[in-house]
Amino acid sequence: MQKELDSLLLTNAAHEFGTPLYIYDSDSIRMQYLKLITAFKGIKSRIFYACKALTNIHILKLMNELDSNIDCSSINEIHLAMLAGFSPEKIIFTSNGVLFDEVIEAVGLGVHVNIDNISTLERFGMTFGGKYPASIRLRPNIMAGGNINIATGHENSKFGIPIEMIDSILTIVEKYNIEIDGLHIHSGSDMNDQHVYVKEVEIMADYARFFPHLNWIDLGGGLKIPYDQHENETDINQLALRLAALFKKFRKPDGSEYEIWLEPGKFLVSACGYLVSRVNVIQKTPKQTFVYLDTGFNHLIRPMFYGAFHRITNLSNEGGLKQPYNIVGNLCETDTFAENRSLPEISEGDYLVFHNAGAYGFEMSMNYNARLKPAEVMVENGNTRLIRRRDNLKDLLRNQIDTENMFS
Ligand code: LLP
Repeated sequence: MQKELDSLLLTNAAHEFGTPLYIYDSDSIRMQYLKLITAFKGIKSRIFYACKALTNIHILKLMNELDSNIDCSSINEIHLAMLAGFSPEKIIFTSNGVLFDEVIEAVGLGVHVNIDNISTLERFGMTFGGKYPASIRLRPNIMAGGNINIATGHENSKFGIPIEMIDSILTIVEKYNIEIDGLHIHSGSDMNDQHVYVKEVEIMADYARFFPHLNWIDLGGGLKIPYDQHENETDINQLALRLAALFKKFRKPDGSEYEIWLEPGKFLVSACGYLVSRVNVIQKTPKQTFVYLDTGFNHLIRPMFYGAFHRITNLSNEGGLKQPYNIVGNLCETDTFAENRSLPEISEGDYLVFHNAGAYGFEMSMNYNARLKPAEVMVENGNTRLIRRRDNLKDLLRNQIDTENMFS
């Protein structure tokens, strides 16, 4: 487990900025990045932050300062990355069935383009064949990932071109003279089995000989981080050693090394993030005690969407006697964060904090029930800095027609 922000700082931030509140510890991000860079030192490699995990522009700027590269999944993520200062050469665009216009725009911006389906590959060939390189996302038919909704490499997954379609890939690549500079596989998120990366490399090593311009092999994201205390982070040093050994043998036809690309999201920004919330109401029923928070799945969807576990602590009574609680949100729909969770005694008005909320937390938030999106705060050198103000009522109406005068 990483060192965490202390309760006083979280409580003070909640007082100062209100709740619900997302808080990000910049030191945690720096430390995770450094861990990766150190592990892969001496290995020809590049780290791409998978920014779908958290796109606040201040987080992106920090990643750029750290000299990370960046993995984008939409044209708008690319625009945000460039606004944050990333040069096109440091950006990879892995699209997922996007309109070809987005690919054209990405090429115009000069970023690396990773193609996930045959139809786009064909269009790419017709438009850019021989003029602009691309990489290919392969579907390895491997089942991996924390749960089925974040498993992307299996044989029923929409992601990537199935490896059994290699002949179709080669026909198009040859027909349009497409320069394939990379192969990519991302098998899933929250993967606790390092061996998946080995299997991915083995698969790509099988096909590499068909692509004479290949420079890099992208193993995607999916590094494991501990959501619960008994879980472990992917041993990144061990993984680096295993990959180094594999890539000693798996080389370009001229004997030089391929570059290994990795696209971590959670590994870089999960543990940095805290969602602090306040207890609105407590209701004891004959069967259970419900704790209703001033937040819901509109702000942290992972428990409801993936059955994900998030550690919760009671900042207001850390040493209290433990009791079982059902921690729920305030939405007009079932929004359970935790059932039967043993926590120090909770009272109305207490601050509860969700840990590991940095990745896919705020990023997946929404305005359901016309609730406002939380503010976001960054902690730097022990100081808190607001990096997004809380939504207000005007924000809910911002794009709706004929609403400008309602507030005068
Ligand atoms: N690269 C590609 C092509 C991806 O699709 C993803 C995640 C990543 C990298 C980063 O994966 P990570 O290192 O963060 O596991 N919302 C879900 C996770 C969805 C992941 C989507 N793709 C969750 O909260 O668990």
